[in-house]
Amino acid sequence: MLLKLTNVVAGYGGGDVLQGVDISVERGSITCIVGPNGAGKSTVLRVVSGLLKPRIGQVVFNDRPIGGLSPRQILALGIVQVAQSHSLFPKMTVRENVRLGAFMLNDRALVNRRLAEVEALFPLVRERADERAASLSGGQQRLVEFARSLMLDPTLILLDEPSMGLDPKALRQVMGMVTTMRQTGKTVLLVEQNARAGLSISDHGIVMESGRVRLEGSHQEILSNPEISSLYLGGTIAGPARPTMP
Ligand SMILES: Nc1ncnc2c1ncn2[C@@H]1O[C@H](COP(=O)(O)OP(=O)(O)OP(=O)(O)O)[C@@H](O)[C@H]1O
Ligand SMILES: [Mg+2]
Repeated sequence: MLLKLTNVVAGYGGGDVLQGVDISVERGSITCIVGPNGAGKSTVLRVVSGLLKPRIGQVVFNDRPIGGLSPRQILALGIVQVAQSHSLFPKMTVRENVRLGAFMLNDRALVNRRLAEVEALFPLVRERADERAASLSGGQQRLVEFARSLMLDPTLILLDEPSMGLDPKALRQVMGMVTTMRQTGKTVLLVEQNARAGLSISDHGIVMESGRVRLEGSHQEILSNPEISSLYLGGTIAGPARPTMP
């Protein structure tokens, strides 16, 4: 396991939001957390990125406890969270925005090498390099945000609702980009409101409810669970049809 949360209890002062969460993320996988509003999905990502310290429990990354580390230390260890949408500097160019992802690096040659790698992965970054970020579509801006997050060559990428606000075509592109990042060896922990889209590209799915893990399994197992389907997925199951009562 690359990342393991064990019995994590954490909250914001008004009480505990996470009520003893166990989550494991396998190296090289895409893991997707789904669940209703307020379930604690974003809070899990905040605990992993160091923005929130667990009150109880352990967070282990690469065999190292990281529960007490600062966000900057955690970033340096190889965990990067892709910022929420609209995080680009609109008047700066695409390339300038992507370069900002390497703010921790002093080695210019290394930054240029990383930029070349990121451009090879996402050709749009090169094609639109000198245009202002604001001139891109919503889906393209998300792509640039992904590209920027890769500049530190992270091991684990945290994504909080990357499809938010995107039309269906852009949603498919974003899910495709997540798959592309995994193909280059990255591990992805994804939170997705669009449960079906998120789970369908994932190796492992986790359903959270009221600060707890309610169910986990392969995406087929979760998408075909009738109760989960009716609670969170709008009631229509992708996969084998349920038998109907005579
Ligand atoms: N900064 C904060 N201060 C106080 N309470 C917070 C804060 N952020 C979140 N909460 C509370 O913690 C609970 C879980 O929030 P969280 O953002 O983790 O949920 P979520 O599963 O990501 O929901 P959503 O699908 O709406 O994004 C909610 O009750 C929320 O009101
Ligand atoms: Mg959230």
